[in-house]
Amino acid sequence: MQTVHTIAELRQAVRAARAAGQTIGFVPTMGNLHDGHISLVERARAAGHFVVASIFVNPLQFDDASDLQRYPRTLAADQQRLSSAQCDLLFAPDVDEMYPQGQQAQSKVHVPVVSEGLCGGSRAGHFDGVATVVSKLFNQVQPDQAFFGQKDWQQVAVIRKLVQDLDMPIDIVAVPTARADDGLALSSRNGYLSDSERQQAPMLYRTLQQTAEQLQQGASLDASVQSASKALNAAGFNVDYVEIRRQQDLQSASENDGEIIILAAAFLGPARLIDNLPLSLN
Ligand code: PAJ
Repeated sequence: MQTVHTIAELRQAVRAARAAGQTIGFVPTMGNLHDGHISLVERARAAGHFVVASIFVNPLQFDDASDLQRYPRTLAADQQRLSSAQCDLLFAPDVDEMYPQGQQAQSKVHVPVVSEGLCGGSRAGHFDGVATVVSKLFNQVQPDQAFFGQKDWQQVAVIRKLVQDLDMPIDIVAVPTARADDGLALSSRNGYLSDSERQQAPMLYRTLQQTAEQLQQGASLDASVQSASKALNAAGFNVDYVEIRRQQDLQSASENDGEIIILAAAFLGPARLIDNLPLSLN
């Protein structure tokens, strides 16, 4: 696997792959790679692409300076994992390559409505930062397909609207959440958990599963959400949100909606964990 750090080198390598008749599959990441990220690379490989991954811890999408500072940076280990997964090219730019005139001078991309509420509600400017960096990465790589994890369901919805609104000829593929054996969604932030918090963490997904069961047995949306929040708070989580939305457009669900999704974010000690569970009622 080749690693490049500049946009010029990236363009050259992608041009060569295209000249050799290959299509381009792209997996954007912030590094500290785990099996969830690798499952995206494997999906891109299985689709037969020349696979480009990126690693860039994007300051523009962090609303909290200490969260940005402590975000794990593990380039050498990440290169090994990508190489074993047969990724073809890694693009790992530094901040000056991505924002040469500084973040303030950078044009921003705002995706309305779907960015609002949920993680967009509690992390000011987060999805503008995501939409901006993903737009730049898409223009730099110019992939045919790009792969994103369903763990960040709202992020996928933002990206889908972004490519639709701005007429970007890129097919967005959403890949199911990779989980540890005990159900915890894999995340770079799980590394912040102490041993006892790590034991407690799978309760987030278990609570979503119990909520889904209650809904399937006819419980109201409001009652289900409230009992999930209460259970998580009682177990030592600090709940940011538990909400039920429509899968399609992430707008608030009503009792008549069939294809719904339960989404939750909660702090456990220093880590903000998110998860979701899509389900069909009726
Ligand atoms: P990051 O958190 O590194 O995630 C990169 C990609 O991996 C995202 O599409 C995310 O949804 C996916 N992913 C994370 N955990 C996963 C899991 N357990 N199972 C499946 N996929 C998983 O998301 C970002 O980076 C950034 O916002 C980015 C899109 C790179 C823009 O900066």
